[in-house]
Amino acid sequence: MLLFTRLAVPLRTLQKLTKAHRWHHTSLTNELIENMDKKATWDRFYTENGSKGQFKNFEWFFGFHSVKDFILPVLQTMSHSHSGPLNILDMGCGTSALGPCIYRTSPCAVKVICADISSVAVKLMQKHSNSTLVQPCNPSSALAFLEMDCTHLRGYFVARSLDLILDKGTTDALVRSKEGQVKAGQIVKQCLQVLKPSGTLLQFSDEDPDARLVWLEREVRGTELAADVGVQEVGELRGVSYFCYQISPRTSERVSK
Ligand SMILES: C[S@@+](CC[C@H](N)C(=O)[O-])C[C@H]1O[C@@H](n2cnc3c(N)ncnc32)[C@H](O)[C@@H]1O
Repeated sequence: MLLFTRLAVPLRTLQKLTKAHRWHHTSLTNELIENMDKKATWDRFYTENGSKGQFKNFEWFFGFHSVKDFILPVLQTMSHSHSGPLNILDMGCGTSALGPCIYRTSPCAVKVICADISSVAVKLMQKHSNSTLVQPCNPSSALAFLEMDCTHLRGYFVARSLDLILDKGTTDALVRSKEGQVKAGQIVKQCLQVLKPSGTLLQFSDEDPDARLVWLEREVRGTELAADVGVQEVGELRGVSYFCYQISPRTSERVSK
C-alpha cells in the first residue's frame, strides 16, 4: 500500500502535463514516472511551457493565496526574535510565484532565494522578475533566483544559516521517480543541516500522512540532528487533499518544553 502510494503518478498530474505539453501519452508517462528527479525532464517541461508567448507562473498545485497562512505567521513569529532579514529558500521553485509573492507581501524583512535544478525555469523567473520590477512590502527585503541541485544544499549554504525552507511539490516529484527516493532523503537531511536551530522546513504535498510521516520519521532518524515532524491539512483541490508537513530541528530547548 505504501509502495503503491509512492510509485503512483496521480492522474491529475498527468492531465495537467498532457494539457501543458501535448506529449505523446507513452512518452509523457515514462518521463514522469521515471525521470521527475532529472534536470533534463524539467528543462523540457519549462521550455515547452514557456514557449507559449507571454510568461505565466505555473503552479504544480495551489498558489500563494492557498498556502500563505502556513507561511506568513511562521515568518512573523520568527521575526520577533531576529534582527535583519529572514533567510528563505523556495527549493524546486520551478516557475511558481510562491517566492516572489512572499517577497512582495511579507511585512518582515526577508531574503528569498528561489532555487531550481532547471536552468530554464530559473532563467524564465529571472527574466520575468527583471521585467516586472516587483516591489517588496519591506524595503530591506531581497529576491534572488539560483540554479541549484538541492541534493547538495551544503555546497551553497553554510550550516545553520536558513530560517525557512519551502518545498511545494519537489519532494513529491522525487519520491515518485525511479531514482529520486534516495535524493529526496538526501535533501531532507541537508535541509536539517542548513536550517538554523529555530528554523523550519515546510513541505506542501499531496502525499497522505500515513505514507509521508513514516518516511520523514525514518529519514530524520538516520541523522545526528533530531527533528520534530508535524502535519496540517491545507485543503482540497479537485477532490484531492493536500498537506503541509513541518519539519523542525529538535533543539534542547524544544525537547525540554
Ligand atoms: C513538481 S515541480 C514543483 C515546482 C514548484 N515548486 C511549484 O509548486 O509549481 C518540482 C520542481 O522540482 C525541481 N527539482 C527536481 N529535482 C531538483 C533538485 N535536485 N534540486 C532542485 N530542484 C529540483 C524541478 O525542476 C521542478 O521545478
